[in-house]
Amino acid sequence: MAQQEDIFKKVVSHCKEYGFVFPSSEIYDGLGAVYDYGQNGVELKNNIKQYWWQYMVLLHENIVGIDSAIFMHPTIWKASGHVDAFNDPLIDNRDSKKRYRADVLIEEQIAKYDEKIEKEVAKARKRFGDAFDEAQYRATSPRVLEETAKRDALHKRYQDVMNAPGGIDLEGMRQIIIDEEIACPISGTRNWTDVRQFNLMFKTEMGAAAEGASTIYLRPETAQGIFVNYLNVQKTGRMKLPFGIAQIGKAFRNEIVARQFIFRMREFEQMEMQFFVKPGTELQWFEEWKKRRMAWHQALGFGAENYRFHDHDKLAHYANAATDVEFKMPFGFKEVEGIHSRTDFDLSQHAKYSGKKIEYFDPDENKSYTPYVIETSIGVDRMFLSVICHSYCEEQLEGGDVRTVLRLPAALAPVKLAVFPLTKKDGLPEKAREIIDELKFHFNCKYEEKDQIGKRYRRQDAIGTPFCVTVDNQTLEDNTVTLRYRDTMEQKRVAISDLRGIIEDQVSIPSLLKNLK
Ligand code: GAP
Repeated sequence: MAQQEDIFKKVVSHCKEYGFVFPSSEIYDGLGAVYDYGQNGVELKNNIKQYWWQYMVLLHENIVGIDSAIFMHPTIWKASGHVDAFNDPLIDNRDSKKRYRADVLIEEQIAKYDEKIEKEVAKARKRFGDAFDEAQYRATSPRVLEETAKRDALHKRYQDVMNAPGGIDLEGMRQIIIDEEIACPISGTRNWTDVRQFNLMFKTEMGAAAEGASTIYLRPETAQGIFVNYLNVQKTGRMKLPFGIAQIGKAFRNEIVARQFIFRMREFEQMEMQFFVKPGTELQWFEEWKKRRMAWHQALGFGAENYRFHDHDKLAHYANAATDVEFKMPFGFKEVEGIHSRTDFDLSQHAKYSGKKIEYFDPDENKSYTPYVIETSIGVDRMFLSVICHSYCEEQLEGGDVRTVLRLPAALAPVKLAVFPLTKKDGLPEKAREIIDELKFHFNCKYEEKDQIGKRYRRQDAIGTPFCVTVDNQTLEDNTVTLRYRDTMEQKRVAISDLRGIIEDQVSIPSLLKNLK
């Protein structure tokens, strides 16, 4: 675990050192949980967005995209439930004056029990070797049984307070924190305040105050922009159920526990798709979208063992099924994407609050009804984090050297080809530029002439460039170059005229999408 935390720290500093992610407003000492993407980060992020968009919109003929405004009519957030219920339960420690999410403190306590259980099992596995019967051990070991009973009792209590009939039982939450003797990590004390609800939406004013400015919100999700455009898109696109609307855009949440780098941010980006279906078919579609989304993730080649579904114990009142796609980050399995069956809640609420009829006329059944919705919602930044954490690698080389390489899927890499003249003379730089001038229309190329070739390779490895080409004096004679592969470090002599054919196919987004077949 400590080793994994170390890796995570290294990833964070690597992101800064190599122009992927910078703290926002850094020269003014930063702004909490807000980050900027640098010259390489923006390319990787754009490639992730392309991978999602091309899968959703290009490969599904019944899904179309939109780009709705961030500012929306304030009543939308009343209708969606965000004004009244988009809250986090917060608790303060009186000694450290630090504020925590009460639900997170409890979930971390549950995770501690899980960790203890897994440690016991791992110890036994080591002790018994091949003869180890894990199921039997879990069912009979007194220590495992004791910790499991404590964990399950806490889990049950937690579920009960979260699902209390009149809304979350805040006093019950505080009592769990007291009973479990959860202490503040800063002060080490258990001097807790009451638990209070805190709304996560950012407010601002539209219009000059004198003219009666109205309070509006920065959208906390992109989904509502899709719901309120359902009729526009369905009518103008003559869409037939089932069909989807996809959107990529910024979302804003005043997160209190903003931690783990770009995992939980106050300004972030979402890629959401609402799939409108005939009522009664939603659970079939829910299962179908679980399969499709998992296949999309796994087509990156990071290994199926690094993904899992986490079905929600606690369903929002409007949902009849929900799951998270979790990815194994250096700090454990974490949610990257949510897949939710949202019934007809959102469209019905907007119909009620706007007074407009929002329905679908089904020509086969000759009647109108409100469609049900399956939502897939993924954070671009979390996806970015999962990709970069998985790709970061410190490799021991023969001779004792260590090289840091980002083994990014080539289609996501910021730069696809780096071209180096061996020296800065004899017309080599001009020849190198000639190669770039031809290839830059097809993929992202970079020219580098500073330092020895070895150092230039290392710099490109560190940003995940899959191919490097060196131009030398032989190039001037026979138009061949040395092509070097990032992962194997293999080098071979190839004709300049073959470069595009070798590289383009491997670095294009369709090369990833083909893995989905
Ligand atoms: N429309 C549904 C919705 O917004 P959500 O589970 O709140 O659902 C969906 O968010 C995804 O958005 C999450 O799985 C996560 O990837 C991303 N996300 C949510 N809050 C985030 C934050 N504060 N920082 C970064 N990403 C976030």
